[in-house]
Amino acid sequence: MKLAVIGAGSMGAQIAQQAALHGIDVVLQDNDPEQLGKARESNRGHLRRKVEKGRLTERDAEIAIDRVHVTGDLEEAARDADFVIEAVFEDVRVKRAIFAELDRIAARDAVLASNSSTISISKLADVTTRPARCLNMHFFYPVLVMDLVEIVRGPQTSDEAVDRAMELARAMGRTPVLLNKEIDGFIVNRILHAATQEAYRLLDAGVASFEDIDTAVEKGLNWPMGPFRLGDFSGLDVTYNARLHMYRVTGDERYKPSPQLEAKVKAGKLGRKTGEGWYTYEK
Ligand SMILES: NC(=O)c1ccc[n+]([C@@H]2O[C@H](COP(=O)([O-])OP(=O)(O)OC[C@H]3O[C@@H](n4cnc5c(N)ncnc54)[C@H](O)[C@@H]3O)[C@@H](O)[C@H]2O)c1
Repeated sequence: MKLAVIGAGSMGAQIAQQAALHGIDVVLQDNDPEQLGKARESNRGHLRRKVEKGRLTERDAEIAIDRVHVTGDLEEAARDADFVIEAVFEDVRVKRAIFAELDRIAARDAVLASNSSTISISKLADVTTRPARCLNMHFFYPVLVMDLVEIVRGPQTSDEAVDRAMELARAMGRTPVLLNKEIDGFIVNRILHAATQEAYRLLDAGVASFEDIDTAVEKGLNWPMGPFRLGDFSGLDVTYNARLHMYRVTGDERYKPSPQLEAKVKAGKLGRKTGEGWYTYEK
């Protein structure tokens, strides 16, 4: 089994590393050489911490790092792959260009998957000659920690491609769930949006403080993080843009970003990564 991962950003780097940790040979491609260097360094750091915690031996960590081959050349990455996961910028034009190229380069029976959070596979598969072997395979950040993968069937995706994606997710030590049809936000983000929306409604209506809403959700629903703490963790710009996207796509007022969230984003208070969001963080 040979896997190619296209895009070595936050997601691609860890998707590649997670597969390599489970014995899968991976080629990780990015057109920015700096990103490839960063991906290797950050994966090395993550695996070092696993070794320190006694979850991985030093030797297995070295083997897993060496099993991710990095390249700037798409042809080299995809020509021998049985399965390709695309994880480049969330830009439909960039992804369509890559899918067209991958279709030309990769073996006829290779599956082409997109890790996109918002672009359904039918918007990419039509540039290929193999829509039956295209699907969404949506991992969660950070991939080395988060167990779930949402696999989404497009209107033309074959059972065989779905089976291969489910099998790959399991081989990577991850739990797959299958969506039988395309829908914006898939399962997790739809439920998260609904809960987050209600949390912001309560905040904007002055019903409770954001701290108390988080405490209520953490202690009463047993979620590891309340919606505001989770927003800080993921980046408030990510939450804001996701809500704006859903609002624009659906026209549904429920998705309209909260004015308090908008104010945070406009002030550059994006959460952990900037040192302040809803909460403040030590540098
Ligand atoms: N960040 C998340 O929490 C998250 C979660 C699930 C899914 N996703 C999806 O994963 C994808 C990647 O997100 P990310 O957060 O890793 O982005 P990122 O910005 O961290 O990384 C994107 C990478 O793509 C590379 N790239 C851009 N154009 C390219 C090209 N033509 N060829 C090769 N590489 C190219 C960039 O150099 C960069 O390294 C997006 O589709 C996003 O929707 C993100």
